Amino acid sequence: MLFQPPIAPSYSKLSPEEIAAQIREHKRNFGDRLVILGHHYQQDDVLEFADFTGDSLKLSQIAAQQNAAEFVVFCGVHFMAESADILTDDSVKVILPDLSAGCSMADMAALDQLEDAWAFLAESTDAKIIPITYVNSAASIKAFCGMHDGACCTSSNAAMVLEWAFKHGEKVIFLPDQHLGRNTAYAMGIPLDDMVVYDPKEPDGGLSAKQASAAKVILWKGHCSVHQLFNAAQCDAIRANEPDRKILVHPECSWEVVQKADLAGSTEFIINTIEQAPKGSKWAIGTEVHLVNRLTNTHTDKDVRSLATIQCLCTTMYRISPTQLLWSLDELADGRVSNQIRVHAEVKRWANVALERMLTNVSSTPKAISGHVD
Ligand code: 13P
Ligand code: SF4
Repeated sequence: MLFQPPIAPSYSKLSPEEIAAQIREHKRNFGDRLVILGHHYQQDDVLEFADFTGDSLKLSQIAAQQNAAEFVVFCGVHFMAESADILTDDSVKVILPDLSAGCSMADMAALDQLEDAWAFLAESTDAKIIPITYVNSAASIKAFCGMHDGACCTSSNAAMVLEWAFKHGEKVIFLPDQHLGRNTAYAMGIPLDDMVVYDPKEPDGGLSAKQASAAKVILWKGHCSVHQLFNAAQCDAIRANEPDRKILVHPECSWEVVQKADLAGSTEFIINTIEQAPKGSKWAIGTEVHLVNRLTNTHTDKDVRSLATIQCLCTTMYRISPTQLLWSLDELADGRVSNQIRVHAEVKRWANVALERMLTNVSSTPKAISGHVD
């Protein structure tokens, strides 16, 4: 995780109303020079200032269109700001309001670990292996995939990207989220027995050459610390106590949870499903608490709540506060481009290849990874 130096103590004396008014004034003054992007897991007090909101895929696509702006302030996490920097012209400066807004899942895959895995797999099998990385990964991991005939994916398009991968190779190494990889591959008809887990902390990933060469999908041992908080017992409790409540989860949840759910799909898919659900319908949602609360408060004609009884909060997304956003804009207004996220040119070139392979293979309508409701 990167270090964010503390901001001036005077910011703590500002009221929420003063902070909001100053952010609005900056937006007026910057006009078209400034674009603020906000991920759905951000707090409402930040999201209200976003020019565009979306999930990882939608925000990547929107970022790619922002070449007329001077500054893109990304209210999300570090890997998202890196993707925006990769996809925009060099003239666009991408800012992350708090440098410590990282992603624990992205931190579970380092380039040297992937290089070791690749060398081990090359010794284990002659089969063509396609590396696929979830966009929740460092730019260096995306670049590795671009350089080795692979691609990126998001939770909105993982199935399409895996189908693409199997047209170009015989095996896939999928990282860093084992759950998205397993859930997607299983829904495509690949049995669990054809998948193995590569643990980057173990020599040779904890696998024998025979296991690696027999597998069709090699899943990296990584996970989302938020979505792993949902479990099968929570689903069983809903089935036992409220059989008319549908369970809708994000595919970063475990395979057991996705199997017990009625539907699994990306953040954008979850939002669309609730928007289109009939009045009076009941839902238990397995995703980040800010999005669930927003769905509960927006769709008061439906009964929407979290699948978990504990708060499933993305603590790193939460680091982007209105105060931190104001500080970022104050810095820009004073002529200091603080917290610019800059990806090295060579890394950018290859990461762009991986992202472009993804963007040319996607449909704009997010589909369920698995399940259906009657
Ligand atoms: P999506 O935005 O692709 O649904 O991913 C969820 C997430 O965990 C973002 O970090
Ligand atoms: Fe990373 Fe999970 Fe937070 Fe998304 S929700 S940024 S995957 S820790």
